[in-house]
Amino acid sequence: MWPVYNGRVVETDGRPRRIGVIGGGQLGRMLILAGRPLGFQFGVLDRGQSAPAAAIADRFITGDLYDGAALEDLTSWADVTTFEIEHTDTEALAELARRGARIVPEARLLALINDKLRQKRSLSEAGVSVPPFWAEHPGTFPVVQKLRHGGYDGRGVAVLSGPSDPVLDGVSYYEEKIALQAELAVIVARRQSGQVVAYPAVDMEFHPIANIVTGVVMPARVPVDVQARATEIAIHAVETLGGIGILAVELFWAENGEILVNEIAPRPHNSGHLTIEACETSQFEQHLRAICDIPLGSAQIRCAAASVNLLGMPDASGPPNLRNIPALMEHPRAHVHWYDKSEVRPFRKMGHVTITAERSEDAVRAIEALGRLVWIGGTGE
Ligand SMILES: Nc1ncnc2c1ncn2[C@@H]1O[C@H](COP(=O)(O)OP(=O)(O)O)[C@@H](O)[C@H]1O
Ligand SMILES: [Mg+2]
Repeated sequence: MWPVYNGRVVETDGRPRRIGVIGGGQLGRMLILAGRPLGFQFGVLDRGQSAPAAAIADRFITGDLYDGAALEDLTSWADVTTFEIEHTDTEALAELARRGARIVPEARLLALINDKLRQKRSLSEAGVSVPPFWAEHPGTFPVVQKLRHGGYDGRGVAVLSGPSDPVLDGVSYYEEKIALQAELAVIVARRQSGQVVAYPAVDMEFHPIANIVTGVVMPARVPVDVQARATEIAIHAVETLGGIGILAVELFWAENGEILVNEIAPRPHNSGHLTIEACETSQFEQHLRAICDIPLGSAQIRCAAASVNLLGMPDASGPPNLRNIPALMEHPRAHVHWYDKSEVRPFRKMGHVTITAERSEDAVRAIEALGRLVWIGGTGE
């Protein structure tokens, strides 16, 4: 067991014990759930006690993710600090790291990725294929406008088909609109020693209005050579950036056959939730292994799977209604993950369901049969 001296755990083997997590959303919650069997302890920083990870953290710090004192409190408690959301103060984190805090991935990488234009430039300069992009409006249409900072779940992206289309307000850059055959993601784990493990590629479906990932399928429903090329490109992209931890690489398989990197998230990702059931090691356990520089687990697929987000209905509000949950669990190979959010909002991610199967197509069919059960309403309705 772990000896405790004067209230503080003594590391007997140099292995980190206490993990600090910046952000208390569902990704932080699933990170904690994966770390429990391994004996990690978790400190979480978030604005409010109602955050999904708060109820299961060993230590909860209430504070803004840009609050320097709260970040210092967390990083001085933790042996290793990571984040489950990118929107935090990278300069404060860099300063804490200079003073000895271990923060993984590094603030430098987070700052680079948080500026989508800088991210695109670094990838492109390293020879990673990305859609053609411009710092200023190229003057032609259609074109995709993207905010350089702060966008997520499609907020911060606008397809402009002509000069009269409404534009986004904020510092932006522009990309060529790519005709897509499929959107893919490859989750890559990399640790300090350089060991790299990539998960099988998934294909992703998006909600046409909310632009949010709805469905994810493993193995991706694309030819095996496309899967293999996507994996190779994703590993190259992660090595180029020097990322440590889980990095999720979103890719486009274009109509013309090209595979292009869309963007990279330096953390566990919605497209990897099905690794909990479908792979030997989940993306969450793998992230912990990678940031602590302990040997990575196998990313081998165990069975096919598809996952779907449980989203708030377009008009939902108030405490969520749980009546769909038992019905979702009727399928014998359905695995329900409920994030325990106190309020439902339109299109808010309330949970997800993964269904495993022998083949991708079977898993997708089973998910489709769930129909409207994946939409979560409020208790007032
Ligand atoms: N250059 C592009 N061409 C075609 N579709 C795009 C392009 N860029 C983004 N999209 C579409 O918009 C979605 C969101 O864009 P993305 O840059 O991934 O932003 P977010 O940070 O919101 O995920 C993508 O998943 C894709 O469906
Ligand atoms: Mg994206």
